[in-house]
Amino acid sequence: MTLSTLCTVSIALGERSYPITIGTGLLGQSATFAALPSAATAVIVSNTTVAPLYARQLQHALASKYKSVHLVTLPDGEEYKTWQTLNQIFDALLQNNSDRKTVLFALGGGVVGDMTGFAAASYMRGVPFVQVPTTLLAQVDSSVGGKTGINHPMGKNMIGAFYQPLQVVCDLDTLKTLPGRELSAGLAEVIKYGPIADLEFLDWIEVNMDRLLARDVQALAHAVQRSCEIKAWVVGQDEREAGLRAILNFGHTFGHAIEAGLGYGAWLHGEAVGCGMVMAAHLSQRLGLIDMAFVQRLTAMIDKAGLPVVGPQLHTQDNAGRYLELMGVDKKAEGGEIRFVLIDGPARATMRGAPDALVREVIDACCI
Ligand code: NAD
Ligand code: GLY
Repeated sequence: MTLSTLCTVSIALGERSYPITIGTGLLGQSATFAALPSAATAVIVSNTTVAPLYARQLQHALASKYKSVHLVTLPDGEEYKTWQTLNQIFDALLQNNSDRKTVLFALGGGVVGDMTGFAAASYMRGVPFVQVPTTLLAQVDSSVGGKTGINHPMGKNMIGAFYQPLQVVCDLDTLKTLPGRELSAGLAEVIKYGPIADLEFLDWIEVNMDRLLARDVQALAHAVQRSCEIKAWVVGQDEREAGLRAILNFGHTFGHAIEAGLGYGAWLHGEAVGCGMVMAAHLSQRLGLIDMAFVQRLTAMIDKAGLPVVGPQLHTQDNAGRYLELMGVDKKAEGGEIRFVLIDGPARATMRGAPDALVREVIDACCI
């Protein structure tokens, strides 16, 4: 496989700046990782699905740089994004005598990336780490920006830290083995960037959806590049989500309620976000911020991407009440008030509360 870096996107965070390398054939090449600091040990953290597919390639690439390269293989699934699984990483780091210079490599989707990042943030109060995302969702979103963490039974991603990687390596070849449902889940986060920031990109996604679904490498490269550029632009201005960064959570307030309400892993994160964007768009429309034509256009795109556009029932008696209860645990909630990321005109997002009665109407209209 020849090395082909299609592009590099930079995320500007002062001394914590780093490159996002996007291309094909990157994973197995030592040149991809040439700029990383030297250390005695590297630890690859992956899972039972991704490790058999890609760990050997990465181990091979890292062998010339590190004296020893260890592999930690975690169970696969959102339901394992827990304190117990995190502890498995710490166990392995200690058993391998990992020191402060040990570099962690997160090889997998967002679950592996979020947990490895949190392990890197806390092991010996912080060791360097690299994101090697292997799902579309992780390449366009979760590997970039330094949000790391685990779930709590009462709320998603409730325990964690902001901790930036040294580099993100998006090897588009890894997307060839991704199940179709996971590709669609990633497309939810790609679509997200259109309504919140870039109408031209929304148009491009709409026109190129078939190419994306067919895994055309040039189309995927553009989707990953533009998504990372938008995310880098947002995170560069508001790393710790004092304000602007919250727009990246469009669809996530409803989506997180779906994930927690159904039990983590029942719906994929991207599926819940896709459906959550439909619900947030309807709420935006009911608040008079956008017209119904835009809601319908967005819904059609999400549907075409292979994502659910109708919400699940989370409670037999009071479905809307259950959504509201779960959304109250969202990290954006302030003083008990749920705050939604809403579309305030094409390519412009805003964050605000909404009357419970209106939110109930939206939930009733959007769920079966
Ligand atoms: P995931 O990590 O569970 O991966 C999806 C599935 O695909 C898993 O079964 C995985 O083993 C498998 N897989 C991964 N790469 C593969 C490949 N190349 N070939 C075949 N199978 C492969 O899910 P995800 O969608 O990547 O990430 C979702 C997680 O990311 C959620 O926990 C979410 O909260 C988190 N997230 C974090 C951020 C952030 O900013 N940190 C942003 C968005 C989402
Ligand atoms: N995925 C939301 C964020 O990174 O802020």
